[in-house]
Amino acid sequence: MPKILICYYSRSGHTKAMAYMIADGVRSSEVEVDVKKVADVKPSDLLKYDGIVFGSPTYYGTCAAELKSLIDKSVKYHEELQGKVGGAFASSGNVGGGNETTVIQLLQALLIHGMVIVGDPVGDHYGPVSIEKPNKRVEKDCKEYGKRIAWLVKKLHG
Ligand SMILES: Cc1cc2nc3c(=O)[nH]c(=O)nc-3n(C[C@H](O)[C@H](O)[C@H](O)COP(=O)(O)O)c2cc1C
Repeated sequence: MPKILICYYSRSGHTKAMAYMIADGVRSSEVEVDVKKVADVKPSDLLKYDGIVFGSPTYYGTCAAELKSLIDKSVKYHEELQGKVGGAFASSGNVGGGNETTVIQLLQALLIHGMVIVGDPVGDHYGPVSIEKPNKRVEKDCKEYGKRIAWLVKKLHG
């Protein structure tokens, strides 16, 4: 059975809440999912999953250093993550505060690993974004995103 990792950093809980909402969407598609704090993820753990989704608060328009550190350490497995499904989500303090640039930054790293990314023509186009605490709109978007990631993982790795 294919398996997805949702790996996040969160100080005040907003990004964490989004991670669990996305996991709900994945589970509803009957795909296995692990939700882990970035501190609990070793670079070698990335090899075990068919899909990897990174989530971060927006810090000065980019991701938290903790997540960037994992990404930089993942160079040890350069070329070994090819063909896995990738995704990203972010929380920010403000509209226009850089949540989309954070998502794009994370997706760039996944693309450089040779991973497969899916956009969304209806919901948040690059990946779910929230302004501070996720509201009902964000919850719906995160669940749909989880389903979308699971759908692609099943297609490529089912
Ligand atoms: C160091 C730092 C930098 C931040 N930079 C931004 C920023 O550039 N734009 C923004 O909208 N919010 C910014 N914020 C706010 C956080 O992105 C926001 O509160 C987020 O929801 C926190 O997520 P968390 O609850 O998962 O920790 C910053 C917060 C901190 C602590």
